[in-house]
Amino acid sequence: MIEFLLNGKVIRSEASPGEVVLDVVRRDVGLKGTKEGCREGDCGACMVLLGTPGERGVEYYAINSCLLPVGTVAGKHVVSIEGLNGPGLTPVQQAIVDEGATQCGFCTPGFVIALTGFLLGDMPLDPDSGYTAVSGNMCRCTGYLSIRRVVKKLCAAFAGTGNSPAARLEAMISSGVVPAYFETVPRLLAGMSGETPVCGVAGPPGDALPRQELDAGSSPPPEMDDTGGQADPGNAILIAGGTDLIVQRPEEVSEARLVLLERREDLRGIRIEAKDCWIGAATPVEEITRSEMLQELFPGTDPHIELISSVAIRHRATVGGNLVNASPIGDMAILLLALNVDVILCAGEQRRSVPLKEFFTGYKQLNREPDELVEAVRFKRPSGGSLFNFEKVSRRKHLDIASVNSAMMITVEHDVVRDVHMSAGGVAPIPFYLASAAESLRGQTLSAESIRRAADEACSAIAPISDVRGSGEYKRVLLGRLVRAHFIELFPGRFGEELLS
Ligand SMILES: Cc1cc2nc3c(=O)[nH]c(=O)nc-3n(C[C@H](O)[C@H](O)[C@H](O)COP(=O)(O)OP(=O)(O)OC[C@H]3O[C@@H](n4cnc5c(N)ncnc54)[C@H](O)[C@@H]3O)c2cc1C
Ligand code: FES
Ligand code: FES
Repeated sequence: MIEFLLNGKVIRSEASPGEVVLDVVRRDVGLKGTKEGCREGDCGACMVLLGTPGERGVEYYAINSCLLPVGTVAGKHVVSIEGLNGPGLTPVQQAIVDEGATQCGFCTPGFVIALTGFLLGDMPLDPDSGYTAVSGNMCRCTGYLSIRRVVKKLCAAFAGTGNSPAARLEAMISSGVVPAYFETVPRLLAGMSGETPVCGVAGPPGDALPRQELDAGSSPPPEMDDTGGQADPGNAILIAGGTDLIVQRPEEVSEARLVLLERREDLRGIRIEAKDCWIGAATPVEEITRSEMLQELFPGTDPHIELISSVAIRHRATVGGNLVNASPIGDMAILLLALNVDVILCAGEQRRSVPLKEFFTGYKQLNREPDELVEAVRFKRPSGGSLFNFEKVSRRKHLDIASVNSAMMITVEHDVVRDVHMSAGGVAPIPFYLASAAESLRGQTLSAESIRRAADEACSAIAPISDVRGSGEYKRVLLGRLVRAHFIELFPGRFGEELLS
């Protein structure tokens, strides 16, 4: 039995842990307000709120229920559109009516949930954050202008509400955004089992990422839990956020034994040591966006991460999942290649580290044994003078994968390039480390000429194929432009026309 709270009611589900919440809510419980659109995380019609108890109280995020294994919601609060019902329309619903932001209505429950999650969450209540909050919701009827007006109206109505989950929850209960039963949720969850008995959970949660240098085969640091570090105990499927796995192999996941990596607290989080930075493999991408530590090291990178999927997907999608999925256009893989990270792998007590640039060995092939778990990535703490940039060209700004993406980290002293790492996606069978382009720049004076040479070198090192995202030749031209764009972005006012010619 998987026990969770659905709206105000305790559910004990006999579903297999890999079946998705969308099916349990619609088929088993019979609540049909949550809509089934694409089943691939693309449309947002299936969104539910997921409330997870933590140190700051119960924190709610809007999540795509079509990609949410029911095994992961044990001990949590799932809110479908029916769970927002009160005596009348909620302020979110009323704003949608007032602004004419619904027509056929199929997408509307998803928008109501996403906007309610926005008001309950910790993003600033300003229109730009509001648009980001609905970046994973599609509407085929309204043309979005009316939805933008709804966002603005809600931001104006709730301006001044604090950012802590407790302050938000209190304000949203008193204004009728969510019903009063939300107050009782922490008590109800406290009495509930968070166990998912039929799932393999890879070891009990520890609380630390590795804190010391790891050499191939070294024994694990003492604070690491190493009781279950195997990737494949009993042929179970390893699942982190499930945002690749459930899209690619839904039937298999729904029937399999699962290893729920999100339960491994020791695989989550971001730590900065004296010389090194660590990101746990099961850290959701959204946590990276919000990390103050990383923002300090790489100021101004938020907009880069916002180009990755939607906020709802980013709450589930993990760093390790992106690397092991090994898509040639995986955004995290491209970002991390430019940081020149090492991948920390473990199997039982054995640990080793592999430079990410040697991790991808062929299309969807990895320097990883079947029983190895990706534990973390580690990179040298960048020096004060290091600059980082990410560029992504896709057909849509949000919720689209790249035609070509590229990242660069560069350290320049007295106008000489001391160090540089560059990467590109969509231009080879693997996420590609642009070794020769970087090499052509190291030790060189930074000039339009040396940049143009590096861009030419990058273009000659790649072998893009033609596909739905563009012809091979187009992608080659794009990469040349993106390499130049890194410098235009990072050295404003210095390079412009001369790089565009
Ligand atoms: C609508 C939508 C939009 C998307 N947009 C983007 C985008 O813009 N950019 C982008 O890069 N990606 C995008 N993705 C893809 C996906 O979200 C990312 O690749 C994500 O990082 C995968 O992480 P996950 O935790 O969900 O992986 P999962 O699906 O849980 O796992 C993927 C694979 O990795 C394995 N695995 C996971 N963690 C580990 C580990 N620690 N050790 C060993 N094996 C592991 C799993 O067994 C599985 O084989 C999108 C996906 C969807 C559904
Ligand atoms: S059904 Fe489209 S995102 Fe889930
Ligand atoms: S109102 Fe029809 S899809 Fe949005």
